[in-house]
Amino acid sequence: MGTGIAEVAARAGLPTYVREVTTELAARARQSIERSLAKAVERGKLAATDRDEALGLLTVGTELGPAAARDILIEAVVEDLAVKNALWAEADTLARPETIFASNTSSLTIAAMAVASGRPDRVIGLHFFNPVPVMGLVEIVPTVGTSAATVDAVLALAGRLGKEPVLAKDASGFIVNRLLVPYMLDAVRMVEQGVGTTADIDTAMRLGTGHPMGPLTLLDFVGIDTAVRIAEIMFTEYRETRFAPPPLLRRMVLVGWYGRKTKRGFYDYAQDPPVPTDLGV
Ligand code: CAA
Repeated sequence: MGTGIAEVAARAGLPTYVREVTTELAARARQSIERSLAKAVERGKLAATDRDEALGLLTVGTELGPAAARDILIEAVVEDLAVKNALWAEADTLARPETIFASNTSSLTIAAMAVASGRPDRVIGLHFFNPVPVMGLVEIVPTVGTSAATVDAVLALAGRLGKEPVLAKDASGFIVNRLLVPYMLDAVRMVEQGVGTTADIDTAMRLGTGHPMGPLTLLDFVGIDTAVRIAEIMFTEYRETRFAPPPLLRRMVLVGWYGRKTKRGFYDYAQDPPVPTDLGV
């Protein structure tokens, strides 16, 4: 998601630094943003001059210092509190005191990052949705310790990025995932119970409720590994069975079927068009 956020920021005219952990990943991140911008130009959604301007505002590297030196540092690392807090602790030693630290977490408690950040009044959740350049929403999640000035600054940033902000309480899953995660997990339980086939469950929700994707296609899009991680975090928080990752999902992670990114999940993406995977249920 980090590249999507960076693309949107650069397109909004903001000087943007993307930090990746290796030079190989940094090169890939730049290519991914260049490809996305090229597609937008091809489709007539972006002028070539605006693409060049956005690319001119974008720097990709492996150092944390230049990212921490900005007005706002947005993290989109793996959904693991220890990893995020190690990042915040390091960033705090490099950042200006007024820099805002924003987390793109989808399920972790923002307050759990406040102490590690060394600046609890300038820590806030800023949750984007995939694909970031397309989805119009951003969830803004202040903690009990976030200052009003930080909330105002992040609301202004959301507007600048062309996103509609909603304010959500610092409760795991915020608004969207609190509803979306149990819905997607229920679809998996329906596959496990043979209520419908993968294709029929997706078709039913697409055509029956006007969703752009069915829940199983959406799981492949989000990433099965990511979905299991989010579900586990939410289950740990609420202890409600509706957030518990179904066994089928865990087994898919064990065999490396993470969805689109590994070319196999509920569908086999090596085929064109993708065909439902035989899940042996
Ligand atoms: N980057 C930029 N633009 C993209 C894009 C990308 N990665 N993917 C698609 N688009 C654009 C296309 O250019 C196209 O634009 P135009 O109509 O202006 O030409 C438009 O989006 C539609 O794309 P397509 O016609 O190729 O495909 P589609 O109609 O099937 O739409 C989709 C693709 C936008 C992904 C749509 O299926 C959709 O909205 N799906 C649901 C996505 C969703 O629910 N996201 C939230 C996931 S949850 C999450 O992110 C948070 C979490 O914590 C888990």
